[in-house]
Amino acid sequence: METIQYNLPQDRIPRVWYNVLPDLPKPMAPPLHPGTHKPIGPDDLAPLFPMALILQEVSGEREIEIPEEVRQIYAQWRPSPLFRARRLEKALDTPAHIYYKYEGGSPAGSHKLNTAVAQAYYNKKEGTKHLATETGAGQWGSALSMACAFFGLDCKVFMVRVSYDQKPYRRALMEAFGAQVTASPSMETESGLGIAISEAVEVAAKDPNTKYALGSVLNHVLLHQTVIGQEAIEQMALAGDDPDVIIGCTGGGSNFAGLVMPYIGRKLKGKSSARVVAVEPSACPSLTKGRFTYDFGDTGHLTPLVKMHTLGSTFMPPGIHAGGLRYHGMAPLVSHVLDLGLAEAVTVQQLDAFAAGIQFARSEGIIPAPESNHAVATAISEALEAKQEGKARTILFNLSGHGHFDMQSYIAYQAGKLENYEYPAEEVAMALAGLPAFE
Ligand SMILES: Cc1ncc(COP(=O)(O)O)c(C=O)c1O
Repeated sequence: METIQYNLPQDRIPRVWYNVLPDLPKPMAPPLHPGTHKPIGPDDLAPLFPMALILQEVSGEREIEIPEEVRQIYAQWRPSPLFRARRLEKALDTPAHIYYKYEGGSPAGSHKLNTAVAQAYYNKKEGTKHLATETGAGQWGSALSMACAFFGLDCKVFMVRVSYDQKPYRRALMEAFGAQVTASPSMETESGLGIAISEAVEVAAKDPNTKYALGSVLNHVLLHQTVIGQEAIEQMALAGDDPDVIIGCTGGGSNFAGLVMPYIGRKLKGKSSARVVAVEPSACPSLTKGRFTYDFGDTGHLTPLVKMHTLGSTFMPPGIHAGGLRYHGMAPLVSHVLDLGLAEAVTVQQLDAFAAGIQFARSEGIIPAPESNHAVATAISEALEAKQEGKARTILFNLSGHGHFDMQSYIAYQAGKLENYEYPAEEVAMALAGLPAFE
């Protein structure tokens, strides 16, 4: 039989999270206080996050130990499987080898649980009673709701209005885990994640027993996701293959970073020459059309200023179905790595993403989340390019979540009701004109 899954036993769940920062040739620009524009210190963040997470945010340690209690919960779905997409390879008639790390097998349906469990753990340990957060697609809200149920924390989720209306089952899942879910903003609008973040931050800032949890963008969130790449390195060794190209979709950058940062660490040590590709939607092109500069993380300008690829915090992304990719900025760490030339970025149109998701489902049997479809589409393009060149190519991508709660978007796609969106250059320019004026 041909091997399809390259799996690791439970005792191979990583014991540390990998922090790429000390291995990078240049440090990141520091976050700045929104009022004074001076670098912020740990105390400035203390109203929002527990100190353990703040220290991880600025840590210079290469390896950060994963608490045993967190590893024990990880064992519910980790190590996650690495699949070789042999049926897809045959369908594409490509000489390429296609591998995917599947994070959709987590009980909440995506990679988001890797950080949700860690964040709930540290909050519980430092006495937090309630966590407030936002969710775009519903995946992050589901993950945090589940993690809060495990640690006995209350969870309040501001769910972007369009998702709240389109995905009642996601909402029901969060409520089943005990979370309180509110549409954000409360009036009928299609605003993106920026406003939901402001709402959650405001709730946390006003109550000493409430902290804020973010599902992407920040260093500590990306750090927790590095279990994905560390496992993948071992699993690719089991498969006897080494990736030539590594791909992840990017909303705030966390599933991408989780897979690629351990590989970037290897690149910097001369142990890998893989290309690293971030895939974003054409409708929200922060990496490919945004500016690398200081900006606010939210629309209400309550967060610190961070240096990132951004379309401007007032940018309103079109209502594409990959809700988790509708964020105006990008993780400062991912932006920095792109700036250093250690990664590249491409865009994929909504219709191409869904076409790829359907093709993948018909070969592999898994319906990807609309966000993950962007990575699938790029993996397929790479495989077809290899076919055209008549050369082997080993492709590894992150299948960050399943799409079982996203079937409304597949219904719309199959009915021909979805459109492509290319964000017009003039509108990007207008949103960028509103950036804070300094550097
Ligand atoms: C399945 C899935 N993949 C990817 C993303 C994008 O987020 P990130 O870039 O942080 O991985 C999301 C966000 O909600 C998601 O739900």
